[in-house]
Amino acid sequence: MKAYHLHGDAGVGSLVRADVTKPEPAKGEVRIRVEAASLNYRDLLTLDAAGQGGLNGRVPLSDGAGVVDAVGSDVTQWHVGDRVAASFFRDWISGPFKSGYVASAHGGRTLDGLLTEYVVLPATALVAVPEHLSVMEAATLPCAAVTAWHGLITRGGLSKGDTLLVQGTGGVALFGLQFAVALGARVIVISSSNAKLDRAKALGASILINYRDTTDWDVAVMKATDGQGASHILELGGPATYDRSIRSVASGGKIVQIGVLTGFGPKPDLARLQWENADIIGVTVGSVEHFAAMNRFLAEHAIHPIVDSTYGFDDVPDAYADLRAGSHFGKVVVKL
Ligand SMILES: NC(=O)c1ccc[n+]([C@@H]2O[C@H](COP(=O)([O-])OP(=O)(O)OC[C@H]3O[C@@H](n4cnc5c(N)ncnc54)[C@H](OP(=O)(O)O)[C@@H]3O)[C@@H](O)[C@H]2O)c1
Repeated sequence: MKAYHLHGDAGVGSLVRADVTKPEPAKGEVRIRVEAASLNYRDLLTLDAAGQGGLNGRVPLSDGAGVVDAVGSDVTQWHVGDRVAASFFRDWISGPFKSGYVASAHGGRTLDGLLTEYVVLPATALVAVPEHLSVMEAATLPCAAVTAWHGLITRGGLSKGDTLLVQGTGGVALFGLQFAVALGARVIVISSSNAKLDRAKALGASILINYRDTTDWDVAVMKATDGQGASHILELGGPATYDRSIRSVASGGKIVQIGVLTGFGPKPDLARLQWENADIIGVTVGSVEHFAAMNRFLAEHAIHPIVDSTYGFDDVPDAYADLRAGSHFGKVVVKL
């Protein structure tokens, strides 16, 4: 079977095609014929770290979906032909997060990912693909969608009448937008592109701010919300956005701490959080249980992920370059 491996130095040159032996499922495991995989910003960070500890020879990409092709003994919940998606963390099935789960992230330093024709995973690390979704659409869900769901809904309690601010129009941001619109919450989008803001409006966002033209977008958020601010913020930027997020949050609001788009280690001024009685919620993707709950919501509201572009297996380096360029709106997918 064919797969991509990371080899050598950082950059797209480290994506190397390989012919490898098709794996066999052992007891409690399932083999999946991967039909689609999707890229996340994390995969650019991983590519940039290629050649460093643990990544040499790794199959990249955490996100993928496909069809069950073989089951090992003792597997009762899955059958050949079932459509499934892999959860981001192999070992976080349910309950609260434990730091030990980090090492079970697919497509990172310790575990292979989904950019491969066949993958064997524990039966417990899978979720069923909702009937209304294609496998291509389902491949966009494991990282970005579950992160937005876990942060905003499970932990953040987002509901009708709330106001959500999302930063940009990438994967996590648009899933957050779609969940909020389905719940009857108001959505503020900041983006570098007026064309993307128009598309966000068509999805139901009502306050649209171009952060290139309006660099003090926090002031614009306050003005557009009559001084109230956003009850929920998907903090995706990091150092360049954090203080503006804090200045945009409503009294009693929640900043869902997720992203590193402008770097690591923000040193925000937290004083306003105290005076507004606001919270920061730290999120690392989510569990199989979160994924399954989110899928029920997607089905109930007939939500389809926004797939921006699709690449063939031979064009994987172009898919990475596309994500790196930042011109995408939603998700970049690889069809296997
Ligand atoms: N903690 C976790 O568990 C977790 C899980 C998933 C993702 N993440 C993180 O969340 C972030 C988003 O991930 P993703 O996969 O959704 O990324 P993505 O799809 O690559 O989205 C990138 C988009 O972010 C926007 N952006 C870039 N710089 C910005 C800035 N300074 N201010 C506002 N928006 C900006 C741009 O949108 P426009 O073109 O519209 O401006 C860009 O296209 C990343 O940092 C990723 O590492 C963390």
